[in-house]
Amino acid sequence: MALIPFDDRDGFIWMDGKMMPWREAKVHYLTHALHYGTQVFEGERVYSGQIFKSREHSERLLKSASIIYMDMPYSAEEICRAKEEVLKANGLENAYIRAAAWRGAEQMGIDVAGTQTHVAIAAWEWGSYFDPEVRKKGISLKTTHWHKPSPNCAPTAAKTASLYNLSCMVKVEVKKAGYTDALMMDHEGYVAESTGANFFAVKDGVLITPIADRFLNGITRQTVIALAKEAGITVDERRIKPEELDSFEEIFLTGTAAEITPVGKIDEMTYNVGPITQKLHSLYEDLIHGRR
Ligand SMILES: Cc1ncc(COP(=O)(O)O)c(C=O)c1O
Repeated sequence: MALIPFDDRDGFIWMDGKMMPWREAKVHYLTHALHYGTQVFEGERVYSGQIFKSREHSERLLKSASIIYMDMPYSAEEICRAKEEVLKANGLENAYIRAAAWRGAEQMGIDVAGTQTHVAIAAWEWGSYFDPEVRKKGISLKTTHWHKPSPNCAPTAAKTASLYNLSCMVKVEVKKAGYTDALMMDHEGYVAESTGANFFAVKDGVLITPIADRFLNGITRQTVIALAKEAGITVDERRIKPEELDSFEEIFLTGTAAEITPVGKIDEMTYNVGPITQKLHSLYEDLIHGRR
């Protein structure tokens, strides 16, 4: 199936306070963000007309902007309202929302003084992030020689474009090697996360996940931890050594796009889609579809 380019679709995009025809939502070549990565963004899902954790995402957008010292011209309430308007204008009930804020073309150079923050929101229908058939058995991950930057080398708590070039690069590498995604280590060599989702493992009935003090503390990650605790599953947030990967019984990833995605393989190690992954997956499905 031919892909429809993202700049050539029908519909409406909210940009700087105005709803505009999809194809007209453009930025100039000399946009600061294109040259220096000065952008923050959110990825959100909409289930049956409800934006999952809308407020949390809007607040994280503001927090990311503040981490990269960028003023935001809108409040979390205003962003939440604009997202609803975008869904309505496009007649969407089940969708993915991309909100972003970036420094514009008012000024070029490392000195950001004089740039203005622009904000836009688009939404479109989007199914499973990974191939549903591959996902059922568990996706494959490849560890890579690229490590995540340390929190004093990059704004690791922000969801900002400048961090994602590394994700794009490792995704190219691992796909070439026949894997679905990458498993990245942190600056100290501990297990961190994949290119766009957080990491969970199960051992002896305990849910183990890396401490999120050096990569994005995903909203899905926080949701899954709360669901596990409510279900009486012990959660252990700690550093994970790569040598431990072989001893885990179940592995899965979490993220807005990935939702809960089981992992069937890391390098040459294999895993089953086990009972804790299945339990949390069904609790998460109930939550996003408003059944709990
Ligand atoms: C690098 C990275 N880590 C983790 C996540 C998961 O975050 P969330 O659950 O808030 O979508 C994402 C997805 O946005 C991501 O891009």
